[in-house]
Amino acid sequence: MKDTDLDFIHRFIPPDSNAKESELTLLLLHGTGGNEDDLIPLGKELAPNASILSVRGKVLENGMPRFFRRLEEGVFDIEDLKIRTDELAEFIVKSSSAYMFDSESLIAVGYSNGANIAASLLLRRPEILAGAILFRAMVPFIPTVMPDLSKKSIILLEGLYDPIVSKAEAESLLEIFTKTQSSVTLKWQNSGHNLTQEDIVAAKNWLESNSDL
Ligand code: MLT
Repeated sequence: MKDTDLDFIHRFIPPDSNAKESELTLLLLHGTGGNEDDLIPLGKELAPNASILSVRGKVLENGMPRFFRRLEEGVFDIEDLKIRTDELAEFIVKSSSAYMFDSESLIAVGYSNGANIAASLLLRRPEILAGAILFRAMVPFIPTVMPDLSKKSIILLEGLYDPIVSKAEAESLLEIFTKTQSSVTLKWQNSGHNLTQEDIVAAKNWLESNSDL
């Protein structure tokens, strides 16, 4: 397969050949206005031996890349979200054969808009991810039928003082993932929408305690 068949701008970083073998691949999904470079240092810090697939969202909002359209802050274009979720899922399937990573050990690491599309992937295309680290995620949509996520592990890292994601919103997302039977944890951070060093520590600890992923 040619790299040009992979129709999202992205970076793939194979594991360091000197590093200890790791099956894990991290799928990095940036926030609004970010790009495929943003979360690479975070991915390397979370799992130094993992492969990394870092993707740039295709939707532009005033020139800022995103993973799906929104009508306003926190109000999503659900039809576009569904189409973009499927498009990203197909890209991940093609990437796993092009770069030969094991799609059964793919963990999404998403921030803000990237966390929202990762949550949408879990709910709409559960075969794509083994689990997810979601920083400052919201409810992407409410599924009419809950998927079975009993084999998935998810951590939600939410900010107590986040002006974009309310406490109720974060708790609704926890409730949805609980209904899917996933192994989900919500950890409140003493912060706003921005990421903090405590987020990184919490995500790293979670990843280490889920080393069977
Ligand atoms: C979204 O649009 O996905 C959320 O409002 C988060 C963000 O500001 O990107």
